[in-house]
Amino acid sequence: MVHLNVTLPDSLVKEVRESDYAGWFTPFEFNNARSPDHSKRFYYQKRYEWKSQLLNEWIDRFAPDRRVLDLFCANGAFSVRAALAGAKEVTGVDAEESRISVADLLARSLEGHVDTKLGFHVRDVHEVLAEDEVYDLVMCFGGLYHVSDPAAMLEKLYHKTSKYAIIQTSHVVQAPGSWGWFRLPRGQDTYVPQWPSETGGWSLTAGCYRRLLRNAGFRILEEQRPPYALRPRFRWYAAMVEKVV
Ligand SMILES: C[S@@+](CC[C@H](N)C(=O)[O-])C[C@H]1O[C@@H](n2cnc3c(N)ncnc32)[C@H](O)[C@@H]1O
Repeated sequence: MVHLNVTLPDSLVKEVRESDYAGWFTPFEFNNARSPDHSKRFYYQKRYEWKSQLLNEWIDRFAPDRRVLDLFCANGAFSVRAALAGAKEVTGVDAEESRISVADLLARSLEGHVDTKLGFHVRDVHEVLAEDEVYDLVMCFGGLYHVSDPAAMLEKLYHKTSKYAIIQTSHVVQAPGSWGWFRLPRGQDTYVPQWPSETGGWSLTAGCYRRLLRNAGFRILEEQRPPYALRPRFRWYAAMVEKVV
C-alpha cells in the first residue's frame, strides 16, 4: 500500500471509488480515499512493500532532476515514487489500459504537489524501445522475465538511457551459476512474445542476469535481493546499473 499525503477533491474521490480494482496493481491510500478492496489486496500490498524495500532507495538517489522512463509501469507506483523524489519528468508505459487509467488518475492527484511532468501511455514497451528518444534513468521492473528475448531487450534498453537504469526481475532461480529455462504458457506450444504473456517466460539465475546485463553494456553498481526467508515467495533480482561507454 502506498500512502499519499494528498487530500483529493471530491471529483477524484469519486473516480477512485468507481475505478476498476484490476487497475490498482499497487493499492493506494490518500488522506480521504483508498483504492477499491479485492481478494488479492493483501498479496498486492506485501508485494509492493517488499519490492519498494529493494528499489525505493535507488529511485530516491537517482531520480531527482532527471528524465525518467518507467517501462511496464502498471498503475505507476514507482513512477509516483520518482516524482516525489524530485524527477524532472516521468514517462510511464504499460500495455494494460485499466492500469494506465489509474496511473493517470494518480498523476492528476499529484498536481500542485510535485513539479514533475508526469505522463502515462498505453503502449507496448517494444515499440517505445524502438524509438530514438533517450532518458537519464530507465526503470524496468517486473517485465524482463516475461518477454521472449530478455537479452535483446537489455541491449535496446542500453540505447534508451544516457547513463543509468534500474532493473528488477522475477521468477529468479535460487541457485548458483548462469543458467535457466523457458516456460511456455500453460496449454500452449508457442509463445506470444508480446503482451499478454505473463504466464510464460524465463526462469534464470541471478548469475545469468548479471551476464546479460554486462553483455548488454552495463556495469552493475549495486544489487538487491529479498531476505532469504522471502525468496521462495518473491523470487526477485534487482540491479542498479550504469552504461559503459
Ligand atoms: C509484473 S507487472 C510489473 C508492474 C510494475 N513495474 C511493478 O513492478 O510494480 C508487469 C506489467 O507489465 C505490463 N506488460 C507486460 N508486457 C508488456 C508489454 N509488452 N508492453 C507494455 N506493458 C507490458 C503488464 O500489463 C503489467 O502491468
